[in-house]
Amino acid sequence: MGKFDNKRMVITGAGSGIGKATAIKFASEGAYVACVDLRGAAETASEIGGSAFALECNVADASAVEKMIASAVNTLGGLDILANIAGIGHFKWSHEESPEDFDRILSVNLNGTFYCCRYALPHMLEAGGGIILNTASTAGLIGQPWSAAYCASKGGVVMLTRAMAYEYRNKNIRVAAVAPGGTKTNIVKSFTDLPKDADYSLMSKIMSPVPIADPSEIASAFAYIASDDGRFITGSILTIDGGIVC
Ligand SMILES: NC(=O)c1ccc[n+]([C@@H]2O[C@H](COP(=O)([O-])OP(=O)(O)OC[C@H]3O[C@@H](n4cnc5c(N)ncnc54)[C@H](O)[C@@H]3O)[C@@H](O)[C@H]2O)c1
Repeated sequence: MGKFDNKRMVITGAGSGIGKATAIKFASEGAYVACVDLRGAAETASEIGGSAFALECNVADASAVEKMIASAVNTLGGLDILANIAGIGHFKWSHEESPEDFDRILSVNLNGTFYCCRYALPHMLEAGGGIILNTASTAGLIGQPWSAAYCASKGGVVMLTRAMAYEYRNKNIRVAAVAPGGTKTNIVKSFTDLPKDADYSLMSKIMSPVPIADPSEIASAFAYIASDDGRFITGSILTIDGGIVC
């Protein structure tokens, strides 16, 4: 018996890092998983085997998300859990950030999370319940230098999570987020290239006193929230950061 036997799930960002670890974790506990990503989803699905399949989708494209959710629900026969994990970011001085890159980061991290919720919710409402797991960040809770777009997008995910949790709390739909600190994945490379003249000491605020997390530790937090043990969790933002936000 697995914790998620026969649960039907969509996971974005499943081609790499936290999304991939989450797909593996939920599938190992019995879930059927649609692995969604721009790239790498097929590899994750084939690593999992029969209980997973891949869908290529740009979450920043609302009509692509509408089609992706419809296709996933059609194959899965319904939708019990949505995990919004896809995300991007980079270091840039705010006075040098291009409007295009600012929009791109907001579009993937915040709009993409909204679009997936938007098109998943009708299926959950029709079925009488569901669970939405979002990915915030410590950068959405405290300021992080050279990351205005990323911080704004993740702060947006925090409030989107709280707003939807409140809106749907009488509809048996739980909405919660994890806020990881540094986690060993590809995105970290985007945050190691310091911009010119950056004062490295400003980084001390966002550096964890313990080694950075393994993606499987974030996946376990998602699994706890989505499990029956997490029945009373909604609207929560669970920091998993080794003590950055205390
Ligand atoms: N790794 C960390 O230190 C850390 C800390 C806090 C929050 N996060 C968040 O965790 C989430 C997962 O990131 P990760 O650490 O696993 O990094 P990652 O780069 O390994 O994974 C991100 C995945 O998102 C996918 N993606 C990017 N843009 C997409 C788009 N438009 N449509 C569909 N998929 C897209 C990428 O292809 C990639 O597979 C992100 O939301 C990130 O902001 C990560």
